Amino acid sequence: MEFVRSIWENDKEYITLIEDLLENEDLLKLDEITHHHYTTRLIHSLFVSYVSYKVAKRLKLDVRAIARAGLLHDFFHENREEIASLNEGSHNHVHPKIAVKNAQQLTELSELEIDIILKHMFLTTRKVGLPRYKESFVVTCVDKYCAINEISTPVRIKVKQKITEWSMKLRVVHA
Ligand SMILES: [Fe+2]
Ligand SMILES: [Fe+2]
Repeated sequence: MEFVRSIWENDKEYITLIEDLLENEDLLKLDEITHHHYTTRLIHSLFVSYVSYKVAKRLKLDVRAIARAGLLHDFFHENREEIASLNEGSHNHVHPKIAVKNAQQLTELSELEIDIILKHMFLTTRKVGLPRYKESFVVTCVDKYCAINEISTPVRIKVKQKITEWSMKLRVVHA
């Protein structure tokens, strides 16, 4: 995660696409909400936005739409219980709709950006239809990649520590 953070902070071209959004207090409040156990909702959103942006650049897709909608895809402040109390459906079905509403109060959204946000939970709930654009497919895949990466953080840290310990021991043996 840290490696992505350091890259996006130094990527002027990327920052130019999203910097107006990062001035919004409501969006910044996502940094106070734990997401996927080991990160915040804001950091997760930036992670998804930046990785999607890099993929879009390589595939020559709409980088602006993907960077912005990627950042706004989880723009909601409610927890699971609060979403359940709305009685509008599952968490995976409802939170993208809330994110679109919140995002529309912050900026004008194109059809493409709405599709990216609305369909990002594709395959996790039957009610989410097929993404209409390549950009929407990229974000839904990147979102899953980032979620796995975030949830597996402690395991990855442990494995890294073990490898370091073993390599130190091997160095001692071969010294
Ligand atoms: Fe989400
Ligand atoms: Fe997400």
